[in-house]
Amino acid sequence: MLEGKEIILGVTGGIAAYKAAEIVRLLIKKGANVSVVMTANAQKFVHPQTFQTLSRNRVATEMFPEQAEMEENHIAWGVKANLALVAPATANIIGKYANGIADDFLSTFLLATRAPIIIAPAMNHNMYLHPVVQANIEKLKERGVYFVEPETGELAMEGEHGTGRLADPQTIVEEAEKLLSRRGDMAGKKVLVTAGPTLEPIDAVRHISNRSSGKMGFAVARAAAERGAAVTLISGPTWLKPPPGTEFIPVTTALEMRERVLENFDSADILVKSAAVVDFRPRQKTNKKIKKEKADLTVELERNPDILAEVGARKGSCILVGFAAETSDLTEYGKKKLKEKNLDLIVVNDISNSDIGFGSDDNMVMLMDREGGVEELPKMSKNNLADHILDRVMKL
Ligand code: CTP
Repeated sequence: MLEGKEIILGVTGGIAAYKAAEIVRLLIKKGANVSVVMTANAQKFVHPQTFQTLSRNRVATEMFPEQAEMEENHIAWGVKANLALVAPATANIIGKYANGIADDFLSTFLLATRAPIIIAPAMNHNMYLHPVVQANIEKLKERGVYFVEPETGELAMEGEHGTGRLADPQTIVEEAEKLLSRRGDMAGKKVLVTAGPTLEPIDAVRHISNRSSGKMGFAVARAAAERGAAVTLISGPTWLKPPPGTEFIPVTTALEMRERVLENFDSADILVKSAAVVDFRPRQKTNKKIKKEKADLTVELERNPDILAEVGARKGSCILVGFAAETSDLTEYGKKKLKEKNLDLIVVNDISNSDIGFGSDDNMVMLMDREGGVEELPKMSKNNLADHILDRVMKL
């Protein structure tokens, strides 16, 4: 339920603006107090009176309101909000927010608030799929903004079909409920997360590694921190910025990662091991660059320790979550790794599908737990998946 929650709903100028009325109605039915902000273009689609009547609150339509309403400015709304929702969100508001442009009530409010933010885009499919819009969405996701993906189907223009239809109001409200119920549910827990690839040097300039982007582990670290946990993130080299509020420990090789994990493991309540650890390292060590004098070069590799199996053997009461990157027989290999590494939960990834997994923003996985529970999840963003994984961990 949303009893007593202050929700600010931003409505922007698209044909789906009328559906925001239903969102207000559903939020109020669940006990929330809703205040609506409309952009100038949104007011061309729906009259503010509709939202005022439904929400029983003043609708913000101007950056600089009348004297009597001065107290109710974007800063005050930023402070009172428990959650901000933008639905429907146009390419314009997404672009402005992603790039820090603040030129009206809604865009200034989005920068002023520290409340969690959910964006539900709705626009023409060519606009939605435009690389610039997708890059803005990705930027916001990396900063922890939640998205309720648009649906695929008939669009506003006659005969147009594609992705860009506002998600169902019911789904948007359910996402809001889930997000708020997760806030603070991990307070007092210590979570250790590993992420990214490891990098095993061959010489001064060359190395063996893999294509892990680190996005999954960073998403788990961010989600756990937002849910109130004390998070330590140990990561191999990636391009990502450590999520705010986490302790970040950068490492390079599997041996370094092992050391840091063992140092931090005993005080952890939960270990999520999403790192793609390189299983082998070059046996010979040199700080020089190997010259190409010979036609061929043989690099002898030795096994790296399996960090997860090692902590699994002495895990105590810590909940252990492992990942499995597989190209075939997912269930069989998942079960095997779950048992052999003494895990509580394993997230099995099909890495043969290039649309998901390594490097992508999305993932489609199967969760298998120690009690035999199996859950096949649909394709979803790594941010959403991170919360799903943590929900399961909290149940265990
Ligand atoms: N893992 C680890 N240390 C290693 C290798 C893997 O801690 N040296 C962890 C990973 O972080 C992941 C899990 O073990 O959580 C499974 O990794 P994966 O690469 O799928 O499997 P492997 O155990 O390496 O087995 P294989 O490569 O044979 O599939």
